[in-house]
Amino acid sequence: SVYANQKEASLAVAARIAKLIRGKQAAGQQTVLGLATGVTPIGVYAELIRLHKEEGLSFKDVVTFNLDEYYPMKPDAAQSYVTFMNENLFDHIDIDKALVHIPDGTLAQDDVAAFCLDYERQIEELGGLDLQLLGIGRTGHIGFNEPGSAPNSGTRLVTLDDLTRRDASRDFGGKENVPTKAITMGVGTIFKAREIILMAWSAKKAPIVQKAVEGEISGEVPATFLQLSDSVEFVLDQGAASDL
Ligand code: GLP
Repeated sequence: SVYANQKEASLAVAARIAKLIRGKQAAGQQTVLGLATGVTPIGVYAELIRLHKEEGLSFKDVVTFNLDEYYPMKPDAAQSYVTFMNENLFDHIDIDKALVHIPDGTLAQDDVAAFCLDYERQIEELGGLDLQLLGIGRTGHIGFNEPGSAPNSGTRLVTLDDLTRRDASRDFGGKENVPTKAITMGVGTIFKAREIILMAWSAKKAPIVQKAVEGEISGEVPATFLQLSDSVEFVLDQGAASDL
């Protein structure tokens, strides 16, 4: 769907999440959400916070799995996705922090593979992700699945693309400070979600959105794999949709 602007699109996505949570609550079930970082979902999180504070939306029975984390990364670092999620969502809602999962950037390299398998196992034990939120990077990455990622890839340690590190350099005060690696859910992990919402705002994202939606399906632009799923919706503002 294409919305007039980012605000309207964000409100619509937040409303869908709220409806999902409330529906699950009515059935006495937990909601399992896959969450994303970056500037793109901030408006959705802001609206979820408002719905919590003003309209009684509770997150007590919501379980979350974040897509990715830089590696190595200390959770209390300003640039960590743990800090991002706390500041932009978790610190402002009634979520049970024991139900929050974010890839661990402090692991020893030898322990990463086992951690990643366990991340997948935990998602599966809960019955899978009800909904996965995604942004898109300028390399066409989803999560941190950079060009070259396989459609059936699982949660794993990856090397970040140079363009991705350049795009992140402002947060880190220079590209040389951006970690070279990250732990990310795989394309295959994302694919298993029952609903996938990829959001993109502004004309800056228009070229990569065009490739993702209309381009040849290829690991060179991992987001093109989403064309193979019936459960994906692209939620765009007019700028991001301007090359379609
Ligand atoms: C980062 C994240 C992605 C995100 C992308 C786009 O690399 N790992 O999950 O989708 O950047 O970021 P932004 O939303 O800030 O444009």
